[in-house]
Amino acid sequence: MKNKKVIVLGGDGFCGWPTALHLSKNGHDVLIVDNLSRRNIDNELEVDSLTPISSMSVRLKAWKEVSGKNIEFVNFDLTKLKDIEATLENYEIDELYNLAAESSVNSSFNQPLITSEITGLGVTRILTSIRRIRPSIKFYQASSSEMFGNSKDSPVNENSNFHPRSPYGISKLYAYWITINHRESYDLFACNGILFNHESPLRPKEFVTRKITSGVAKYEKGFRDPIELGNLSVKRDWGFAGDYVPGMWKILQADEPDDYILASGKNHSVREFVEESFRCIGVKVRWDGEDLKEKGFCSESGDLLITINPKYYRPSEIISLVGDYSKAKRILDWSPKISFRNLVEMMVKSDLILLQS
Ligand code: GDD
Repeated sequence: MKNKKVIVLGGDGFCGWPTALHLSKNGHDVLIVDNLSRRNIDNELEVDSLTPISSMSVRLKAWKEVSGKNIEFVNFDLTKLKDIEATLENYEIDELYNLAAESSVNSSFNQPLITSEITGLGVTRILTSIRRIRPSIKFYQASSSEMFGNSKDSPVNENSNFHPRSPYGISKLYAYWITINHRESYDLFACNGILFNHESPLRPKEFVTRKITSGVAKYEKGFRDPIELGNLSVKRDWGFAGDYVPGMWKILQADEPDDYILASGKNHSVREFVEESFRCIGVKVRWDGEDLKEKGFCSESGDLLITINPKYYRPSEIISLVGDYSKAKRILDWSPKISFRNLVEMMVKSDLILLQS
């Protein structure tokens, strides 16, 4: 890899962090740009004191230890065009990875305006700044499988129809099209990576996978509070975030700018994720009841493991999502490596280790 200067926008997020690390390890100078003022770091540390790299200063230290590279952090607000322009004026950047977003689908129902403002319009601000200040920058937009929503196809591919089901999905769809529009109108090297759910031990606990694996680790350590979940029947295409990072990089190294799905190609229900997670600690789950009354028990001890709380149901849900990544495989030679089972094991193991420390 030739040494480049890259921005990872949203680089303090659970996916931005490994992306920045990957690029740094491969010899690039990385500028992590994030909105630190919006993030309540103290609160995050208090709620999640078991996660060792949950504040910028600790991350910075970890970064230096791991990479030994120069790394800079810039505070940044996607609602402010001036912030973006100043960053692009101050740094001669080759590539920009936009991973910044209000990323919780759940929260987007409660804050549709902020979601549209950051996740949708924020991308127009970045592209406008690139066009004005440094049009040679290659731009990666973190598009989402949520855009497909209730698409007619399954699995979905790059030509499938979109039918988003949340303010988040709709904002991401706007960002997707404004990216394509800048490619077509101004000849920018602007690409969409349409990622399906990508998980890792760094996933915040408001998302279902980490909520489950951290709950399973707690159970193993003797806590007996059941994990409260929403709809157990929905299916998602869960892959390992670490597999997707090189794919994102490859998208910007292709000869032509284009849009690609990165997915595992398989989906599983939330119920299966629960079963697989408990299997990692040798517990078999027995299900009883239906819908809101459904409960999961330890088949041996009878301990109550899972209950349903309607507050985790969404006003409109996507029942099943699965992606076809054959275009990325064909053109970028990209495919995922970590299986569903290995992903769940990795996350449960990591949560067990965190509870020990
Ligand atoms: N969060 C959450 N909490 N989800 C639950 C729960 C619960 O207690 N119980 C069931 N679910 C279901 C949700 O209804 C949803 O269908 C599924 O689990 C996954 O929810 P999340 O983990 O919150 O992720 P997501 O699929 O909505 O969105 C994630 O993946 C997208 C695609 O890559 C986010 O990372 C998005 O930012 C990303 O675009």
